[in-house]
Amino acid sequence: MTYQQRVEEKLKKLSNDLTILAIESSCDETACALLKGREILANVVLSSAKEQAKYGGIVPEIASRMHIEMIEDAVQAALQESKVEIEMLDGIACTYGAGLVGSLLVGLSFAKAFAYTHGLPFLAVNHIRGHMAAGYLSDKNLHPPFVTLLASGGHTAILYTKSFTEFEILGSTRDDAVGETFDKVARVLDLPYPGGIEIENLAKSGTNTFKLPKIFKGNGFDFSFSGLKTAVVNAVHHAKQKGEKINYADIACSFQTVVCHTLAERAIEAVKMKNCSTLVAGGGVICNSYLRQLLQDKGKEAGMQVILPEKKYCSDNAAMIAMEGSIQLQHKNIAPLSTNAMAYIPLAKKGKIIE
Ligand code: KG4
Ligand code: ZN
Repeated sequence: MTYQQRVEEKLKKLSNDLTILAIESSCDETACALLKGREILANVVLSSAKEQAKYGGIVPEIASRMHIEMIEDAVQAALQESKVEIEMLDGIACTYGAGLVGSLLVGLSFAKAFAYTHGLPFLAVNHIRGHMAAGYLSDKNLHPPFVTLLASGGHTAILYTKSFTEFEILGSTRDDAVGETFDKVARVLDLPYPGGIEIENLAKSGTNTFKLPKIFKGNGFDFSFSGLKTAVVNAVHHAKQKGEKINYADIACSFQTVVCHTLAERAIEAVKMKNCSTLVAGGGVICNSYLRQLLQDKGKEAGMQVILPEKKYCSDNAAMIAMEGSIQLQHKNIAPLSTNAMAYIPLAKKGKIIE
């Protein structure tokens, strides 16, 4: 039988609760997860962040090489932990973009070879759609419609999730993503990479007293973080030039406060505008405890349900890729084995519904 025929046979015999193996290798995490329905049976994340931290950021070649060394271990560990036999799988999902092409290609090649060998439907997942699907893992009854606040290293957006497969972009960043802004500000404050958690920790010993500009709010729900980033960079450089003492903890606290309040306020406004009652958050920046508390408090005040995935499902992981893959399989959206890695996938134009 050809691969196509084997996949068609498999599609006739799908389980009620789809069992999906997923691989994520878009950046510096080599991740593999096993999902049955919405139940996570294994979630393995092997990270090269320590190695990357020596260079103050991600070196793409190091990331690709480490994926090559770790991918087999990640998959074996997930299979063993879940006790799932390969014959029990309904499909294999893998991130195809956006991300570092060399890194993506490692996961993608492994996943496509696995799909071919075992006659499994191949599910190509957009990394961002994975972050957006993480909410389904933390609330097993979550069902669209809802508003999503997406805040990661590469994207910042507020979306209306109309159905399991349709989204409307209500607003997005006009320049830097919020995670990228945290990382750049951390760098000028001499904090190691990745900067988000470092700023959060430093902010605990500071006060919200450092004067920073307000975040520019564009039309609708757009953001712009570059003005704020430049203000911090300039303040630190000027102080250094003049030999003045400047309190980095106060800068960290003031920066975190203005960013988190803006994100939370805009997200809550969007839920009200769409007349819905649920806000779901996703992406690495949602690991920030100050932001999590703010979203909970503001959501409660407005009588909304706020769904915050556990931190390990906000930062890069394969469980969220498995969840999105499962949705794709339910909708018979099977990808060809010619699927290539994409460095960039546009979020689509504002207001447009994307399938
Ligand atoms: O979603 P993610 O793991 O990878 C991308 O898809 O980009 O997000 C990584 C970003 C980094 O910029 C990192 O600094 C930020 O999330 N981040 C945080 C925190 N933890 C991770 N930002 C603020 N506070 C945190 N605690
Ligand atoms: Zn991510």
